[in-house]
Order: sequence, then C-alpha cells, then structure tokens
Amino acid sequence: MLNPILIIGGSKRYRPLFAALKDLHIQTNQVLSGEEALATLNMRSYDAVIMEWDLSYSSALETVERIKKIRPNIPVLAVGSGPDSGLDRDGKSGGLVEYLPMTGVENIDLARLIGNLKQILPELRARVLPGRDLLWSKTRNEKMKKLLAMLDIIKDELGSVLIQGENGTGKEVIAWLLHYSGRGHTAPFVAINCAAIPETLLESELFGHEKGSFTGATERRVGKFELANKGTAFLDEIGDMPVNTQAKILRVLETGEIERVGGHNKIPVELRIVAATNQNIHEKIEQGQFRQDLFFRINTFTLVLPPLRERREDLFSLAQHFLDLIGARRGGGPRKCLSHSAQQMLLKYNWPGNVRELRNVMERAAVLTESNLIGPEALPEEVLAESNQLSLPPHDSQPFSASVRNGSGIVPLKDLEKRAIIEALSLLGFNATQTAKNLGISKATLYRKIKEYNISRRLVVCS
Ligand SMILES: Nc1ncnc2c1ncn2[C@@H]1O[C@H](COP(=O)(O)OP(=O)(O)OP(=O)(O)O)[C@@H](O)[C@H]1O
Ligand SMILES: [Mg+2]
Repeated sequence: MLNPILIIGGSKRYRPLFAALKDLHIQTNQVLSGEEALATLNMRSYDAVIMEWDLSYSSALETVERIKKIRPNIPVLAVGSGPDSGLDRDGKSGGLVEYLPMTGVENIDLARLIGNLKQILPELRARVLPGRDLLWSKTRNEKMKKLLAMLDIIKDELGSVLIQGENGTGKEVIAWLLHYSGRGHTAPFVAINCAAIPETLLESELFGHEKGSFTGATERRVGKFELANKGTAFLDEIGDMPVNTQAKILRVLETGEIERVGGHNKIPVELRIVAATNQNIHEKIEQGQFRQDLFFRINTFTLVLPPLRERREDLFSLAQHFLDLIGARRGGGPRKCLSHSAQQMLLKYNWPGNVRELRNVMERAAVLTESNLIGPEALPEEVLAESNQLSLPPHDSQPFSASVRNGSGIVPLKDLEKRAIIEALSLLGFNATQTAKNLGISKATLYRKIKEYNISRRLVVCS
C-alpha cells in the first residue's frame, strides 16, 4: 500500500483500535476534527479515511460530504458506539462506504474493521493474513495453534461450525474471526443469544412474523435468519435452545427455507451457522435436551477452545496485551508490566472465568497501581488466596527438608537451583522458553542445567 489511512477523531474509546492498526504496519495519520481532516487531505494523498461517528450527528454527516467534495473517490468508513440507526443510511447517501457499530471488545472490533479495510483496499489482503491480525497469532499453546490452523482452513467454507469452550474462553471472538477473516466477510454477521430470548419469542426472533400473527404482532418483522442471509448466523448458547425450536432450526438447515410465524410463504435463505456453547452437548443429548440430528447438522466443524488454565504459556502475553489495551484507553503513558511475584501468582491461579477474568483482573490492577510495576497487592483476594494454597509436589513443598541438608545442616545452592528449575517447569507446563525467561537465564543455560541435574518430565508435575 502506498498511502496511509487518515483517521479522524481522538476519543479514548477507539485508541486501542487505531493503535492496533499501527501494530499491523498499516500506516495511519490521526487528526482530531473534520476541519483538520479537510486541510490534511488537501495536502497529501490517503488511501482511505476512518472516522469516529460519535461526533455530533450533523458534523459527522457534514464531514463525509465535505470529504467527498474534495476527494470523490476516497473510501470513508465510520466507527461508532451506537447500534445502526438512520445515521448509517444518511451517511451512505452522503458517500460513506460503511458504518461499523463497535462492540467494545477489541479483537471483535478489530476483526471487523480489518475485514472491511481489506474489502476496500485489496492490497491489505496479502499483508494482513486472516487470524494473524490478532493476538491469537501470538499463542504458544499447541491446542490454540491447531485451532487457528483449522480456522484458516474452514473460514471460506459454508459448513456449520460448533465452538465449544468454558465461559470466557473467547468463543464469540472466534466466531467473529471466522466471519471476518473469510471471503464472506462483507455479508451480515447476525448474533442470536438463544439463552437470553424467552422461549415464546425465540421463533419470531429467528424466523420473523407476519403482522397480526399473534397478539402484539402489530407490524411484520423480519427475523434474524432472514437478516443473516448470505452471511453468518451466530447461535450463541445453543445448548439452551428449547427442543421445539431445535426441530424448526433443523428444518431450516435442511430445506434452506424459512417461514415467518403466521406466514405461508417459504423464503429461501443461504446461511452459515456458527453455534457456540459452554455446555456438554453429549450429556444434553443423553438427557433428551438436545436433538442428536441437530447436533450432527451443526458440527460439520468443531472448534474446542482450551480453558486458560490449560494454556498457561499464553498467560503473560495475554495479561500484557490487556494492560497495553487499558493503558492505550487511559491515554498512554509509561507501559505497565507485572512484577515477577505477581506473575507467579497468576500462574498458580486456576482462572475459572478464563480470559474474561484475566482481562478484568488486569483492568483492576492497572487502575490500582500508580507506578509502572504491578505487584501482587494489586491482585484480587481470590487470586492471592488460591496461589498461596497451591501445594507443590511433596518433595518440593519443604525447601529445607533434612534430605537436602548436608552434614552441617546447610542447603547446598545447587539443590535450591534444581528445585527452582523443577518448580518453574512444573508451573509453566515444561515450556522451556517461558521457564528460562522467568528464571532469568538463557534457554541454553536452562537446557544445560536440566541435563546436569538430570531433570526429566517425570519429576515435573504440571498444574
Ligand atoms: N485471544 C484473545 N485475545 C484477547 N482477548 C481475548 C481473547 N480471547 C478472549 N478474549 C477476551 O475475553 C473476553 C471473553 O471473550 P468471549 O466473549 O469471546 O468469550 P465466550 O467464550 O463467548 O464467553 P461466554 O461463554 O461467557 O459467552 C472478551 O473480552 C474477549 O475480548
Ligand atoms: Mg459468549
């Protein structure tokens, strides 16, 4: 790409988003107002404009129109916090390419913005590879690496995808990534939370209804499946969908047609179904709460997200990612990092709330710590309590037991060193790079010591 992208706006809310563009080596130039943007556009060439749509109604619209007057061919995208409204339509008639309502979840928003940028700037396609544009690429965890490789393979397929994982592991993020990294990313992505919609309303929500089809149906309503036509329907919490509705969904998937509640016409729909659940679907099938035939229909591809406690290798990079995001949102300043002892606490904690919990813990810690080094005191009670309780393997739990003391009752340093290495390897799942880094030695030294002390995986008890 030859020219940078011009960004208009300066609110804190979007700082991490625009900072992420820079991290992807997409050249940007940011100005604070429409006036400044016009002056800048007069001076040099840009390939696209991204503007914040949270400016006042008239000034956002006016800015698009004035930009179009001086640069009729430049694509203008807008990001905003509100749901789609008349603004979007009015903006488009003034020359806006797309209005992207932001969710506030950075990786989802980034996936969406990048997806749209790739559409208008094809040169970006080769530069920003799918799935590489997000933190996911930095994973060191084997399961996550496999999952990403799989995502890359299936992103352009129409077959349905079932995403399984505990609460907060990133199922929704993966669903968005699937949609926005694939070929169909300009088509709609429509999310339906099956657990949040009362059973009586779920069908009308999914399939729409005709005017007068039931009390309260004063208008015809287009359902989510119809809205998602040619794109992705994301059925979140599918494990909570009532069995009756399951049968109807199955019929839609098999016939490729929907019928509005109270309607008689069959409407063809072409959809990719992406479903997510934190429940054990096999158990639900056994209990008669989930239809097996629907299960077979929706799990053409299955992606299983590991809980955070099984991907401890990623803990520090995720934690730092969140600290950086929070830092960017709060206006920059010196980078905040975790102290060694705080890191140890995070490693020992079990993370029942997974990535979401880590994010909240980091947010809290960043706010509570004025300096740039975050210590254990900024971590919540539950993290401290659990990590203090964690007992190490029996031979490690009493660092100065009689067996390691020599004749004068002194502990030889090399025994302490051996113990430190075994403990670190245990906590870090035998990840040599992380272990060396945390012990403050080189990887080569670590390998030498593993050999010297005859440390095998057998001695290392992974949490
Ligand atoms: N790899 C990641 N990189 C950065 N942030 C992540 C990652 N995975 C998850 N998150 C963050 O964790 C939070 C939870 O993610 P998400 O909502 O996708 O989880 P979920 O599995 O759908 O949770 P639930 O089961 O509660 O609906 C979000 O704030 C998201 O941004
Ligand atoms: Mg979710």
